[in-house]
Amino acid sequence: MARKKIVAGNWKMNMTPAQAKDLIETLKPLCGANTDKDVVFCVPFIDIPLAVEAVKGTNIKIGAQNLYFEEKGAYTGEIAPAMIKEAGCDYVIIGHSERRAYFGETNEIVNKKVLKAYEHDLVPIICVGETLEQREQGITEELVRLQTKIALKDVDAAKAEKAVIAYEPIWAIGTGKTATNEQAQEVCGWIRNVLAQVYGQETADKIRVQYGGSVNAGNAADLFAMPDIDGGLVGGASLKADFAAIVNA
Ligand code: PGA
Repeated sequence: MARKKIVAGNWKMNMTPAQAKDLIETLKPLCGANTDKDVVFCVPFIDIPLAVEAVKGTNIKIGAQNLYFEEKGAYTGEIAPAMIKEAGCDYVIIGHSERRAYFGETNEIVNKKVLKAYEHDLVPIICVGETLEQREQGITEELVRLQTKIALKDVDAAKAEKAVIAYEPIWAIGTGKTATNEQAQEVCGWIRNVLAQVYGQETADKIRVQYGGSVNAGNAADLFAMPDIDGGLVGGASLKADFAAIVNA
């Protein structure tokens, strides 16, 4: 069955509110009317309100890059799911490798955050992927299967079919070293396979699996043409006009 492709920009810790406004004004006319893909800007928390306002009337949706897994309370510096939902987010990135590496996010924490996202009707973009060392050791398949399974623990099929899984090999993130189409397809295929084991093929065929890691205007079209790759999660190239070329790829 045909899955609608989804291209999401992960702005990471870039763009002050003024810069965010400018970037959205640049990108809007270039990709705001694209309806054959879902287009998402995952912006810093402080930019969410202005981004939601700026994309009104376009096809672009706004996402956050993280949330905390409690409702509210004494968690200084964290952000509640209800806050980003009320601010107008539809998506949230969960378990990005930078959060796993620098902020100690484990598979179990990722799962708690995924469950919270669903409680608040936010679509989780769940990131999985291996380091170069793990790839060289030959454990990519086991690792990615485990990351995917644990992230979706206690998520029923009706919810899981809305999820987006982003396969991001860590060695390809921000390095300019993209996985080959075949490498990316192979792992995205394993992810679909584990989803089919857990939820059945019909549900697995509905779940979008993105590739991320040095996606750019030159490689996007070929990557997105692979059978199990349903779009991309884009870092560096999402901060410039190139992003529109990726969306329109
Ligand atoms: P990159 O980042 O496109 O800059 O490699 C991708 C990501 O980390 O989501």
